[in-house]
Amino acid sequence: MKNSSVQVLILLMFFFFLVLPLYNRFSNYFMTEPDKVWRRTMLQQQDLYKYTTQQSYRMPYIQDETVDLRIVVIVFNRADSLLRLLGSLNVAFYFGERVVLDIWIDRSKDGQIDENTYRIASEFQFKHGVKIVHNHTFHVGIYGQWLNTWTPKSNSSEIAVILEDDLTVSPYFYKWLKIVHKKYDKLVEVNGYSLQGISIKHGIGSEGLLEAPSGNIVFLYPVIGTWGFSPNRRNWVKFRDWFEVMLHDDKFQPLVPNILPTSWYQTFIQTGKTEGMWSMWHIYHAWKSREYTVYPNFSGHLGLTVNWKESGLHYGPGLARGGRNPSHNLLTIWRPAYEDLPDYPIRLDVYGNIDKEDEP
Ligand SMILES: *[C@@H]1O[C@H](CO)[C@@H](O)[C@H](O)[C@H]1NC(C)=O
Ligand SMILES: *[C@@H]1O[C@H](CO)[C@@H](O)[C@H](O)[C@H]1NC(C)=O
Ligand SMILES: *[C@@H]1O[C@H](CO)[C@@H](O)[C@H](O)[C@H]1NC(C)=O
Repeated sequence: MKNSSVQVLILLMFFFFLVLPLYNRFSNYFMTEPDKVWRRTMLQQQDLYKYTTQQSYRMPYIQDETVDLRIVVIVFNRADSLLRLLGSLNVAFYFGERVVLDIWIDRSKDGQIDENTYRIASEFQFKHGVKIVHNHTFHVGIYGQWLNTWTPKSNSSEIAVILEDDLTVSPYFYKWLKIVHKKYDKLVEVNGYSLQGISIKHGIGSEGLLEAPSGNIVFLYPVIGTWGFSPNRRNWVKFRDWFEVMLHDDKFQPLVPNILPTSWYQTFIQTGKTEGMWSMWHIYHAWKSREYTVYPNFSGHLGLTVNWKESGLHYGPGLARGGRNPSHNLLTIWRPAYEDLPDYPIRLDVYGNIDKEDEP
């Protein structure tokens, strides 16, 4: 070998075995403070996600082909709240169809299952189908609870609905879900169905509640409502695949301009608490892919779910009053008019205005 190539080789070895490892080891010093916080958060999220993908999938799972409706209840340690939700699920209508109720109980960070919550879940008698209680194997947090509890096959035809424990459902929630899935699943821009009857406007500077013009029984909206959400299977699979990829990109942050959730998320990042806001990823993905969520618009803001607690996480104060009173009222009477849906729902933007841009 010539002298010069030996020198190059030594230089290369020096670079690969000394400089690179040293840089990786100390790269933290070259990062700004927000970058460091962000990196730390991402690493936490990657951990959570890794646990859920490895462990929780292997839980007993009834195959999709035999199920019409899968109710996914996610809970950590609020036994009373869970009992209230389960009670409302028992008095809802299912038309004799095949229903599975999956109750997923998260662990605390030090690995504990809340005994009371477990007892309520396991003693509950579901009158309309199969109930399965799943203990998560690790603490999975709200990300794992939302993103890894419904993992349908790509050809699955089951309807799924994900419910946090602080909700109650209307007896007609499934009736509505059946109708809207049948009508709108085929629209590529529909990523799912929110059950709540009330929402803020998410555009920065907008005030008051989201109001659809009267005469519209449903509407499309760019931001997911998390008080009961039933994904459109096709879009959900895409979203989860995308999430898994983006999660490993340290540089990426799911920030959408001019909406409130982005500023909440940024506040969370600064305080190291983004583990609460999985929905930001959904909002970003919907924004990038021009997808919308279908909301019901019953008069008086009647909901297919109501929320019982002060939320403050996905929504600002003023919607839920917390404690004894639900956020608004449940739909308790079904009218035939609710089944007369438009082929293409009206679309509102984040300021609550009618959005006609590139309508089909
Ligand atoms: C789930 O956790 C509860 C409470 O700790 C325990 O009694 C039960 O055996 C666990 N179930 C499984 C399948 O691990
Ligand atoms: C979905 O695909 C599986 C095999 O991948 C098959 O066994 C099943 O019958 C299919 N179900 C439907 C509804 O097409
Ligand atoms: C839709 O919402 C508006 C505003 O809240 C309300 O006036 C109207 O009655 C609702 N429902 C229908 C079917 O128009």
